[in-house]
Amino acid sequence: MIEAAAAADLQQITSLGASSLPSAWGLDALADAQARHDTLLEVVRESGEIVGYVLARCCAEEVEIHEIVIAPSRRRAGLGSALLAHALRAAGRAGARSAHLEVRANDAGALRFYQERRFREIGRRPRYYRSGEDAITMSRKLGPVRVDAEVVANEADGTTGRRLRLRVPGWPGAEPGQFVMLSPGPRTRVPRTDPLLPRPMAVYRTLGDGDEIEILYKISGRGTALLAGAGSGDRVGVVGPLGRGFAPPAEGEHALLVGGGTGTASLLGQAAAVASCGQATVLLGARTAGDLLGLAEFRALNVGLELATEDGSAGHHGFITEPLAKALAADPGAVVYACGPTPMMRAAAELAREHDARCVVSLENPMACGFGVCLGCAAPLVGGGFGLVCRDGPVFDASTVDWGNLS
Ligand SMILES: Cc1cc2nc3c(=O)[nH]c(=O)nc-3n(C[C@H](O)[C@H](O)[C@H](O)COP(=O)(O)OP(=O)(O)OC[C@H]3O[C@@H](n4cnc5c(N)ncnc54)[C@H](O)[C@@H]3O)c2cc1C
Ligand code: FES
Repeated sequence: MIEAAAAADLQQITSLGASSLPSAWGLDALADAQARHDTLLEVVRESGEIVGYVLARCCAEEVEIHEIVIAPSRRRAGLGSALLAHALRAAGRAGARSAHLEVRANDAGALRFYQERRFREIGRRPRYYRSGEDAITMSRKLGPVRVDAEVVANEADGTTGRRLRLRVPGWPGAEPGQFVMLSPGPRTRVPRTDPLLPRPMAVYRTLGDGDEIEILYKISGRGTALLAGAGSGDRVGVVGPLGRGFAPPAEGEHALLVGGGTGTASLLGQAAAVASCGQATVLLGARTAGDLLGLAEFRALNVGLELATEDGSAGHHGFITEPLAKALAADPGAVVYACGPTPMMRAAAELAREHDARCVVSLENPMACGFGVCLGCAAPLVGGGFGLVCRDGPVFDASTVDWGNLS
């Protein structure tokens, strides 16, 4: 659990910092910082002992991440990610629009950690540290944008799917599994009230100089039909990125990523992340060969690829969960990531449970607002209660979802 540090914690935090960083903040500096209302000093405590902390300060619309330290025995368990995400969320709530930090130029692990979390290198401070080492300064934007995005391209791609490429001014980048709400219908031709509500779509990938996004979609009703009618130069309303995406994979992770139909669009970023530090097999299922989306991008990754179609026109003849069962039997330690129709995710969760494997799903409940206000996307959770797919998800640990009551 992450919680605010108490005054009594400062000594322990100082010792943890000194054991990990050559220039960690001392006791007096930490005490001063803790007394300030603009400083965030939060700890992870396990069995009463502090095993990690984050120190950050907000100033105007910026947050500076000063230190994230994890006890050596608890590294590679996702605590650094959790502390960073926690600090960025808190800073976003406090009004920060961008985050900044500096990293030792020779610390390849730290540079990679922040790059994977959408920080970009923006400068270098020569001989910044006492040791004479340079510092790399990094930053990233925070929070969703709400803009009228220009349609760069919007076309069928030879499958039953379509690709919509949008230029989104101020796009802050998205974590794998995050989504946008699109108001379909170019303003010039269709009133914004038709349909009234925006439609959720996964961010398939970021393109251009980082300010363009691609959406992979199928026409399934009024909203997506209108989206398909938007031509180059038209405008589409975009709010995002929204929701909690997939956590970065662990070093050396084996993963089985299972996509069904348009659910495939949520998995490309996570497949790439796993491929960069572990071993990924992507299993894509659809009704027919023509319904298999995104094959070119998945083939371009360093991943294994298995296909299944219900009519047997490509890959295994049947459901994709059948090859998944075989893959899990061969590699029971693999993590399963799944996105697609609810019956497919339910079956994937059940198979993972049978093999004692962790399963993470990205739910696709219909949404109305996209940011936790209308309660329209509620998903039942084990033990009672609901999670809001737009705000608490769309990514959930499958073991927390009450599959029997999820429609
Ligand atoms: C987080 C998230 C990410 C998504 N990402 C993508 C994506 O990358 N590409 C893509 O094509 N679609 C995606 N979807 C599904 C997409 O939002 C729906 O297909 C879309 O809202 C349908 O709108 P419509 O007006 O065209 O259809 P509607 O007229 O609203 O519905 C037409 C048909 O589609 C069904 N439908 C509506 N919403 C959903 C849904 N959420 N899931 C499944 N069926 C639905 C309805 O039951 C109905 O049968 C995503 C949904 C969520 C929640
Ligand atoms: S879509 Fe409105 S609360 Fe989730």
